[in-house]
Amino acid sequence: MITAHTRSDLRSQLLQWRKDGDRIAVVPTMGNLHEGHLSLARLGKTLAERVVVSVFVNPTQFGEGEDFDSYPRTLPEDAQKLSGEGVHLLFAPDMQTVYPFGVASATRVSVPGLTDEFCGAGRPGHFDGVTSVVLRLFTLIQPDVAVFGQKDFQQQLVIRRMVEDIGLPIEISTGAVVREPGGLAMSSRNSYLGAADRETAAGLYRVLQQTGARIQDGQEDFVMLEAAALTSLESGGLQPEYFSIRNSADLSIPDSACREFVILAAACVGGVRLIDNIVVAMP
Ligand code: PAJ
Repeated sequence: MITAHTRSDLRSQLLQWRKDGDRIAVVPTMGNLHEGHLSLARLGKTLAERVVVSVFVNPTQFGEGEDFDSYPRTLPEDAQKLSGEGVHLLFAPDMQTVYPFGVASATRVSVPGLTDEFCGAGRPGHFDGVTSVVLRLFTLIQPDVAVFGQKDFQQQLVIRRMVEDIGLPIEISTGAVVREPGGLAMSSRNSYLGAADRETAAGLYRVLQQTGARIQDGQEDFVMLEAAALTSLESGGLQPEYFSIRNSADLSIPDSACREFVILAAACVGGVRLIDNIVVAMP
């Protein structure tokens, strides 16, 4: 596996692969890699001849008081895991490489509407930081395909919209959520949870599943289902931020014609903010 830290190292390697006619897949990450990230790298390998994984903890998507400084940075271990998966290139730029004019002067892009609710409301400015850095990575790498996780459902939808709206010739692929044996969605932030909090956190997925099952059973009163879920989360020791049943295509409030729903949830456990979701497809 090649590791590139600078724009020029990256470009010269990519140029060679393009000359050879290889398609390039990218998996953008912030590192501290777990099985969820690695599953996306594996998916990337099925979609293109060459897989690039980027590791960059992007400051512009963290709000004030969030964990930018303490976010786990484990590049040597990440590199070992990626090499074990047969990833071709690790792009691990420093701040100057990603933001040559500094963060405050950086060009930005935003996707209004889709980012107004849920994580966009709970973390103001977060999605502007995400779209701005992802567009920057897309420009530097110019991939044929980019892979994102369903774990961050709203994020992958926002990226899809950005790509379609501005007409980038990049295919977006979404990989399934990888979970711990107890159901908790894997996340770099799970390392902040103690053993007892981990048990509590698994309740988030259970409530999502229970709600999904009731929709499958024909329950159409979503307001009631959402309220019941919030109550279950609270009695399970979680502090819910949102729990919402929406149209999976665009996060709109589902009408009677909607056949595929997403149930989106965010909750805090022991001061750690968790997000999760499931997609419910009706026959
Ligand atoms: P990060 O949180 O490191 O996640 C990188 C990618 O891994 C995202 O697409 C995320 O949805 C996916 N992922 C995380 N946990 C997963 C799981 N349990 N199962 C499947 N996929 C999972 O998301 C970001 O970084 C950043 O916002 C980024 C897009 C890199 C921009 O900075």
